[in-house]
Amino acid sequence: MSGDPKPGSGAQAPPAAAGPPRAKRTAPQIVELKRRGEPIACVTAYDFPTARLADEAGVDIVLVGDSVGTVLLGYDSTLPVTMDDMLHHTRAVTRARPSALVVADMPFMSYQVSVEQAVLNAGRLVQEGGADAVKLEGGERVTGAVRRIVEVGIPVMGHLGLTPQSVLALGGYRVQARGEADQERLLSEAKLLEASGCFSVVLEGIPARLGAAVSRELQIPTIGIGAGPSCDGQVLVSHDLLGMFLGHTPKFVRRYAELAPEIRAAYQRYIADVKARRFPSERESYY
Ligand code: KIV
Repeated sequence: MSGDPKPGSGAQAPPAAAGPPRAKRTAPQIVELKRRGEPIACVTAYDFPTARLADEAGVDIVLVGDSVGTVLLGYDSTLPVTMDDMLHHTRAVTRARPSALVVADMPFMSYQVSVEQAVLNAGRLVQEGGADAVKLEGGERVTGAVRRIVEVGIPVMGHLGLTPQSVLALGGYRVQARGEADQERLLSEAKLLEASGCFSVVLEGIPARLGAAVSRELQIPTIGIGAGPSCDGQVLVSHDLLGMFLGHTPKFVRRYAELAPEIRAAYQRYIADVKARRFPSERESYY
């Protein structure tokens, strides 16, 4: 019997939307964007279609964040996310062959125990996951790992401020570095990360003035999330910006769509059609 392929069941990835092909973004090019004064747009993605759509829209960086734990997997924090989880989702993203730089988060306990383990796990995200770079959280305490990962040829993005993998020590998700001493420490840790070879650094949940000061002081780009408008780039969790996250939405999120109610309504219409035997129609059936 010949027939239409089942939607969503094709072995081959659907072709990308028409448009001029973009050159693959590299870590040095992301640094160059800062030099040229061009803001850097980054979103998270954890799956093939989101990565494909964000890439077609022209995003510079796709971050396979360990926020996959809270956004997709239903955990209360990112702490339970494993290397296997990150590899699974990084592979799904890189199968979309994005032109954007793909940065994969190193999950909790994948880089803290030893520099050797950090290098091995960063290598797995590149070799098995297809990532172009990795991200890890922390300042001075991770510089040894950053140096070695960079030495083996893997670009590293740092992450300072509200670092969700330290939520237990921080005592919750709250704005960091409000006091002068903490601000000085964060700035010096940002400089340490730059000196250790990071090609960029995420600044999360810090006062806008500090975001501006760090961005001014560093040659590498800062990517802000709740760190004010003066960062060199911005990152948002895709499900937040699309209005698809069912939990708390922080103040720094701007929603560019309200997909959750639309999705719920679509399911309701489908259920009503099935119950009333309006779906499938003759046109949607094989004869
Ligand atoms: O995991 C993540 O999504 C992140 C971003 C919020 C920066 O680290």
